[in-house]
Amino acid sequence: MSADSVGNNILDRQDRQDVMSGRGGLQSKFKICIFEEINWSVKMKTTTLLLATIAVIGLVGCSKTDNYTPAATASGEDIFNLNCTKCHKPNTDGSVMVLNTAVANKDAIIKKVQTGSMSMAAFPNITGEPANRLAEYVLANSKTK
Ligand code: HEC
Repeated sequence: MSADSVGNNILDRQDRQDVMSGRGGLQSKFKICIFEEINWSVKMKTTTLLLATIAVIGLVGCSKTDNYTPAATASGEDIFNLNCTKCHKPNTDGSVMVLNTAVANKDAIIKKVQTGSMSMAAFPNITGEPANRLAEYVLANSKTK
């Protein structure tokens, strides 16, 4: 077996040229390969993380705004049934909500309705007397925990 054919089994022509011209040959090629692999996988991880974050935000939904504006004469019950029962299903005992003590007052209910939260839409146009009647309806028909 000639030295040349042994060489052919291990190194390709380019590598042999690299080795002979002192450009590092196989070893440096291997290093570049590994580096590119790591680099690529970091990029993929960043992309995946970014997509996952966007998906989570999309699912949870950052406080959406509902532009519903009640008629000046709308009753609290009407406003509630029209806008709130989508998410707040009445309890089996007929109460419409179970309120935390901290929220069991008109001001807090109105503030909650107008500002919403991560998972609850904000209703900035429920204001004044209709907002007052809505809060009264919620208070009168809720339990407190
Ligand atoms: C998109 C669904 C959704 C709609 C529509 C919605 N809510 Fe909510 N609401 C929630 C969720 C979820 C919570 C609990 C998480 C939180 O406090 O943000 C909540 C919490 C509340 C609370 C606080 C309860 C407590 O004890 O902390 C009040 C009061 C309330 N909602 C009133 C209303 C009223 C009144 C309406 C109608 C104008 C309404 N919500 C419409 C989803 C909704």
